[in-house]
Amino acid sequence: MQTSDGLPAEIDLSRPSAARVYDYFLGGAHNFEIDRRLAEQIASMTPNLAATMRSGREFLRRAVRALLDAGIDQFLDIGSGIPTVGNVHEVAQAANPQARIVYVDIDPVAVAHSRELLTGNDRAVAVHADLREPKLILDEARSSGLIDFDRPLGILLAGVVHFVPDADRPADVLATLRAAAAPGSFLVISHSTFEDQPQEMLDAQRLSARTDTEITLRSRAEITGFFGDWTLLEPGVVHMPLWRPDSPSDVDEHPERFGAFGGVARYDRPAG
Ligand SMILES: C[S@@+](CC[C@H](N)C(=O)[O-])C[C@H]1O[C@@H](n2cnc3c(N)ncnc32)[C@H](O)[C@@H]1O
Repeated sequence: MQTSDGLPAEIDLSRPSAARVYDYFLGGAHNFEIDRRLAEQIASMTPNLAATMRSGREFLRRAVRALLDAGIDQFLDIGSGIPTVGNVHEVAQAANPQARIVYVDIDPVAVAHSRELLTGNDRAVAVHADLREPKLILDEARSSGLIDFDRPLGILLAGVVHFVPDADRPADVLATLRAAAAPGSFLVISHSTFEDQPQEMLDAQRLSARTDTEITLRSRAEITGFFGDWTLLEPGVVHMPLWRPDSPSDVDEHPERFGAFGGVARYDRPAG
């Protein structure tokens, strides 16, 4: 259902939303005063944060390209966010017009804008669902008719698993998603960390408690664990700019300042 200004009726404008704050940082137009105020407060504490978010987006683009090069033509992008420059379906369908994408986000504004952008694209849909209920996401992806779980797919979890607190068992969520994938599938994760971070980053993280989606920073070892027994591609789980940069000159002198690790793993058919 929509309100008269075209927004989904279920949107809560009394609290900032992580998706809309993120959209503001990326220069998007789908945010409100309450989101901008929080974004400015976070930005004043961590001037680097907008660059961090762009770096996350760049990591995702490079990872999607690597999957396309490996022949992947179907993507399940969970926590896909508000559409912005270089969306996964744009990167994927530019390389392979037959590529199919199911976007999933918990934020109704993100889903509404994604649907608007995808009008007329019969190989991409946006679904409103919660990563903490992975079975529902898998059901939705199956019933969309766009993803064939008997064939390899790319599962994208960029900047979203840190919104799942330990109490909601993120390792189990990941295990459920991995179990649904055919051999040859890939898993892409980027995740905020406390490792190598200055105090102001940790303070800014505390502000996320004001949104419905508080961030849980995790160690490299915990993040690596989310890939289970899948085979990590080189260079492993690294600070995001270090993951296969387009050019060595793209890598900041302090790649740790972007505050997140990224990695990509492949599900190799078990031996035997
Ligand atoms: C930082 S943005 C990342 C957007 C995009 N993946 C990227 O890398 O550019 C995180 C997104 O995750 C969504 N999100 C947070 N918790 C979620 C959950 N439990 N289930 C699904 N999406 C969630 C937010 O609404 C937001 O759009």
